[in-house]
Amino acid sequence: MTKTILRALAGETLPTPPIWMMRQAGRYLPEYRATRAQAGDFLSLCYNPELAAEVTLQPIRRYGFDAAILFADILLLPQALGADLWFVTGEGPRLSTITTDAEFDKLGKGEMIHDTLNPVYETVKILSKELPAETTLIGFAGAPWTVATYMIAGKGTPDQGPAHALKAENRALFEKIIERLTEGTIDYLSKQVEAGAEVVKIFDSWAGSLKGEDFDKYALEPARIITQEMKARFPGLPVIAFPRQAGDKYIGFHKATGADCVAVDDSVTPEWVAEHVQPAGCVQGNLKNTHMVTGGQGLIDEIRHVVKALSGGPHIFNLGHGITPDADPENVKLMIDTIRNG
Ligand code: CP3
Repeated sequence: MTKTILRALAGETLPTPPIWMMRQAGRYLPEYRATRAQAGDFLSLCYNPELAAEVTLQPIRRYGFDAAILFADILLLPQALGADLWFVTGEGPRLSTITTDAEFDKLGKGEMIHDTLNPVYETVKILSKELPAETTLIGFAGAPWTVATYMIAGKGTPDQGPAHALKAENRALFEKIIERLTEGTIDYLSKQVEAGAEVVKIFDSWAGSLKGEDFDKYALEPARIITQEMKARFPGLPVIAFPRQAGDKYIGFHKATGADCVAVDDSVTPEWVAEHVQPAGCVQGNLKNTHMVTGGQGLIDEIRHVVKALSGGPHIFNLGHGITPDADPENVKLMIDTIRNG
């Protein structure tokens, strides 16, 4: 029997949508916090295959999600290319910046990334042995634009200002960064698939800050190149694209990139998604993540709303963005029970 996530990705409309959740292995879970403490810090956890596999499995054991997502981070690729990367507690990631040709020329390329990323492929191998037979294993990478915003600014930024500035001031360098990341992403995802990932997801968390032609060139086109190359290398491999906050640009994204599924955030309504996006293929989303903090009847009502609105086509239930550390683990259980038991 084919796994439910794979059936939805193949375009099947299921009576109950399969479920997983962005950041399902994360700080809202006490067992995650314990394993992270055992590893020492977040990056040590990412590069420890036994412990990274353990935290990936924790939400599967606790809740029985239909998919597990590899535990790693989108910023491991820049680190593997030679950028310095560290996390400041309570603030987020910091990287050495790339804003000049000289800094870009110091980056590596090609097979060298695997020297750093090998432990991630080991995690995938462990997971493909240990996951329950019905659970789909999702590998992932950041989209070139989103990863570039962190590499250029050296940190997360509210408006991606430094990346937009480099794009305006030195477009040739900006495009070289996008190209290097596109190639690196294909190599990184390929190794994940060879190790056992059954689906890959491309996270473009900041796609919404690219407007008009910039969106087409730096969000859509890299997603198309990565999707097409992955499908050429691995025929039949399902690809999920997440151009977050794309708004109207969600329309046509399946067809233009070849992605099997487009994940949508909660700035669009499920009715709008059903009308404009789902006719082109599977969609994933889009419960507002704050419901996982507030819970109660509001959570139940909103789950029913999302499920009903998207019940006429292929749908994978998820949040519109990752679950936050202040979420109540009981609300995740309530979410799953509400979907599976009606
Ligand atoms: O979803 C999962 O459970 C799989 C693992 C995963 C993580 N990050 C683990 C993580 C995935 C798929 C990501 C993707 C990621 N990482 C994105 C794209 C998705 C999104 O959320 O928009 C981005 C932008 C990053 C970069 C990143 N990593 C930031 C900005 C931060 C700090 C902010 C924060 O939430 O703390 C991280 C850290 C991070 N990545 C954590 C986890 C579980 C928290 C680390 C900790 O334990 O302190």
